[in-house]
Amino acid sequence: MTARAQLILANRAFLDHEAPRWADSPSAAASGGLLAAVRPVIAPWDGRTGTTWIGAGMGRFDREWVDERGYEILETPRGPLRHRRLFFGSSTWQGHYGEVANSFTWPLFHLVRVDLPKATPYYPEPHPPSEAGWQSFVAVNRAFAAAACEEDGEQSCWVHDYQLALVPAMLRERGYRGPIGFFLHIPFPSMAVIRPYLEGEARERLRAIVAGMLGADLAGFQTPGDVERFIEAAGELCGARPAPGGVEAGGRLVRLGAYPVGIDPEEVLTAARRARPVTRVRLARELGLPVVVGLERGDFTKGIPERLRAIAEAYRRGHRFAYIGIASPTREGVEVYGALEAAIEREAARAREAAYWVGCPFTQVRASVGWDDVVALQRDADVVFTSSLADGMNLVPLQAAIAQSLRPAEERAVVLAGVDAGVAKVYGGDGREGLRAVDPLDQGSLLEGLVEGLEGRPARVSDAFIAKVREHDAKSWGERFLADLEGKC
Ligand code: G6P
Repeated sequence: MTARAQLILANRAFLDHEAPRWADSPSAAASGGLLAAVRPVIAPWDGRTGTTWIGAGMGRFDREWVDERGYEILETPRGPLRHRRLFFGSSTWQGHYGEVANSFTWPLFHLVRVDLPKATPYYPEPHPPSEAGWQSFVAVNRAFAAAACEEDGEQSCWVHDYQLALVPAMLRERGYRGPIGFFLHIPFPSMAVIRPYLEGEARERLRAIVAGMLGADLAGFQTPGDVERFIEAAGELCGARPAPGGVEAGGRLVRLGAYPVGIDPEEVLTAARRARPVTRVRLARELGLPVVVGLERGDFTKGIPERLRAIAEAYRRGHRFAYIGIASPTREGVEVYGALEAAIEREAARAREAAYWVGCPFTQVRASVGWDDVVALQRDADVVFTSSLADGMNLVPLQAAIAQSLRPAEERAVVLAGVDAGVAKVYGGDGREGLRAVDPLDQGSLLEGLVEGLEGRPARVSDAFIAKVREHDAKSWGERFLADLEGKC
């Protein structure tokens, strides 16, 4: 990492509101992909150079940690981090986070194929925000842009994800002097798929979001497909024209590129070496049963009900295995998540009954489990079953590959991933290296993936897959993005 100052702007603060000492320990599973990918990128703060992280504060403010300019210096495993939390009132937060980020942008951007809301009854139709909600979103984005501009110097500013999509253009309007980078951690959808959801106001809101992202010098996406779809939307909504390396918009070149995120392999290995097997895995071993695990945030993009239906069918057909499914609570209080809970419970009840008749243990819980237990499950599973309907990347298969590296090659798991998840596109899902793409909307595909996976087919996690995950780690992702951002500006 270059010895420069760098600003990271992310909706989530580095220090979690619920666990004040969170920065001292590796990630909780519930914190999801953004923190896991960005955390390894931070450079220690030495009083002059290093990373400054600006995020939204959602809890108590501990004054002792604040320096005279409103910064905290956090002691993290990666050294000191200069950190600033911005505080918002609850109705502003509800408009920004509840209405715009989670009820409009998140479901809209994950519509990677036609008609998800019809194919999966719990998937919410993207709901355009109220005027007040939109204004809250603008206000929060403006506060982030203002905080960045209070920094002196010309350090690069790296803005993360859809919650802050307006910030790049706001920074430019305010005359921010350093290079402006933006990275979208989630998919970018095609106009053809989302056009039906874009009547009236919704279209105008999306236009503003795309225009906001076009304020960057460099905008990064997970896959080349996301870049292509963004170019299409930038043309249709903002009149941007394709140009070598990106698009031309507002009389300048906005560089665009695919930068698939990675994980920190050491963080996984450290936990994988020390974590004890969870009790349910030990019980399954005593019964001589293979273990299938499903681990993720309880989000409607993860395809959990579809997976549970396939699990039930596998039991009905007489396959014997233990299933341990853990969906960690996420975005509680955001209304559109209600229908998912009911769908999971319904399918889990059916799978539990089917498991009973073949005498197999089945668990599906909604719980936040600790990092060590997450990694222990990824290490000890015989099939790691993810089945996202859509996903920017999905780090679970990557973490699982590293955790499984501690086992002899012939005992390792088969890892399943939704065909539209970034991980399947970037790492290839033909199964030959142990990662197999399955279609979450096709029960036959899910069932086949599971049943063959139980037999170690088409292949178990290979050394080649593990080596790729190591090579494309979070640190090299961050370095590549920042080098491109800083090198050419
Ligand atoms: C996951 C996604 C990120 C997103 C984050 C927000 O990690 O991969 O793209 O920014 O969720 O999570 P939150 O819990 O803050 O809504």
